[in-house]
Amino acid sequence: MSNTERTFIAIKPDGVQRGLISEIIDRFERKGYKLAAMKILTPSKEIAEKHYAEHADKPMFAGLVEFVTSGPMVAMIWEGRDAVRGGRRLIGSTNPAESPLGSIRGDLCVDTKRNVVHGSDSVESAAREIALWFAPWEIVE
Ligand code: TYD
Ligand code: MG
Repeated sequence: MSNTERTFIAIKPDGVQRGLISEIIDRFERKGYKLAAMKILTPSKEIAEKHYAEHADKPMFAGLVEFVTSGPMVAMIWEGRDAVRGGRRLIGSTNPAESPLGSIRGDLCVDTKRNVVHGSDSVESAAREIALWFAPWEIVE
C-alpha cells in the first residue's frame, strides 16, 4: 500500500553555497512530487539542535549543528505518493561513497559531513520536522 505523504527536505548550506538549489528541486519535481512549502533561511542554533535531537549524544552533534547554522538553507515540504521513502531514495545513502549514482548524494558530493541535502527518514520524523520548520500558514493545501 502506498499513501500520499509529506516529507521535509532541506538543501544544506553546502548545497546552497555550491549552487545546487535548482538541481535538487528539479529532481523532486521531475520525479512527480508536489512542492507544498519552501523558504530560505539560516537556521537558529535552537532549530538545528531540535532538528538533529536524535544525534544529541553523539560526538558529531556539535559539528553538525555548527555546520547547518553556518549559512542559508532551503527548507521545503514535498508531497506525493510514498514521498518519505521516495524522497530518501532520490537523496541516496548518508555516506555519498555508498550512495548509488543517480541519487543526489551519489552524483553531487563526496563527504558525509557535506552531503548537500536532508530528507526525513520516516513519516513520524517528517511530521515532527515539518512542525519544527514551518508554520501552518506557510504550507499550501
Ligand atoms: P543521519 O541522520 O545518520 O543521516 P541522514 O542525513 O542520511 O538521515 O545523520 C545526520 C547527518 O549527520 C548526516 O546527513 C551527515 C552527518 N553525519 C556525519 O557528519 N558523520 C557521520 O558519521 C554520520 C552518520 C552523519
Ligand atoms: Mg537522519
